[in-house]
Amino acid sequence: MSWKDRIRKVEPYVSGEQPKLEQMIKLNTNENPYPPSEKVQAVLQSVNADKLALYPNSDAETLRTALAEFWQLDESQIFIGNGSDEVLSLSFLTFFNSDKPVFMPDVTYPFYPTYCDLYGIKYVKQAVDADFHIQAKDYVAENGGIIFCNPCNPTGISEPLDLIEQILEQNQESVVIIDEAYADFSGQSAIPLLDKYENLLITRTFSKARSLAGIRLGVALGSSYAIGKLYDVKNSFNSYCVDMIAQEIGLASIQDTEQMLANVDKIIATRTWFSKAVEKLGFVSTDSQTNFVFIRCEQFSGQTLYDRMYNKHIIVRYWDKPGISDWVRITIGTDEQMKQVLDFLSKLMREA
Ligand SMILES: Cc1ncc(COP(=O)(O)O)c(C=O)c1O
Repeated sequence: MSWKDRIRKVEPYVSGEQPKLEQMIKLNTNENPYPPSEKVQAVLQSVNADKLALYPNSDAETLRTALAEFWQLDESQIFIGNGSDEVLSLSFLTFFNSDKPVFMPDVTYPFYPTYCDLYGIKYVKQAVDADFHIQAKDYVAENGGIIFCNPCNPTGISEPLDLIEQILEQNQESVVIIDEAYADFSGQSAIPLLDKYENLLITRTFSKARSLAGIRLGVALGSSYAIGKLYDVKNSFNSYCVDMIAQEIGLASIQDTEQMLANVDKIIATRTWFSKAVEKLGFVSTDSQTNFVFIRCEQFSGQTLYDRMYNKHIIVRYWDKPGISDWVRITIGTDEQMKQVLDFLSKLMREA
């Protein structure tokens, strides 16, 4: 048998395209159209390259303390990693270690099945209802863990805290991971439930509301017990946390939450007028609580919408998957960008 036959076979997650053309309107990866806090810029200007000769603080202590204060948790409840994708991946490796399948909704962040395949974790996708909502009753059977994002990518829908609590109540023997990548936009978080449920793990990111996708900073919040176990696994893999610059940038960002909230408000205002305007054109849009909208229309398939926008240098996201192939996900950009998208969509609808 050749060494090539023994290579681990995986089907990698394909992230949104990073276009080469400058004039593209890039609305495909839910990035923030506004820059991060000026305090972040100040950190970058003051970076002393000599310090890079040393390893970073392995526990990111200062950042961890600031995050604990920010979320009013104990430091032992905070885990820091290179983007929430890494935090999620390590969480799957740590907590989803059972013969029973992990449960996830069938419309959710497509990276979850990829992690399961990588680590050989069985999983079952539970159908969402016709309005893309999760049903607590689907999460009652024996399982090896539960994962979903709230609000959901790609639908933008946020489930209420009582549904999350019901799922936790029914699953005290499993770890339940709630991926809150977009919670800064919804203003709702499961963090208050951490006091009550030791098996709850919440992941957060600096990539969306905090405009720091490029720095790769993600966080897990959980019980001290669960976070300790997550660090054990991470430290068996890479004992350094995140790089020195990311630690300082994260700290600067968390110290300027007002700027983040101001950008969130701007994005929500843009999302609100854009959603109403596309609905007037005949599109259906979900009740998004995020920095993107999820829309469809009768006249064009998701693929056609995607292609027609792409040809006009507007990149959005579309999945050829059952249940969502009629839909496209459009990240909320600046007002100017969204006006251009709206102009294009209204021309398209007139043609139909
Ligand atoms: C639901 C969800 N979780 C996690 C991530 C990953 O974010 P990060 O940049 O922190 O790795 C994304 C990114 O789009 C996302 O949509």
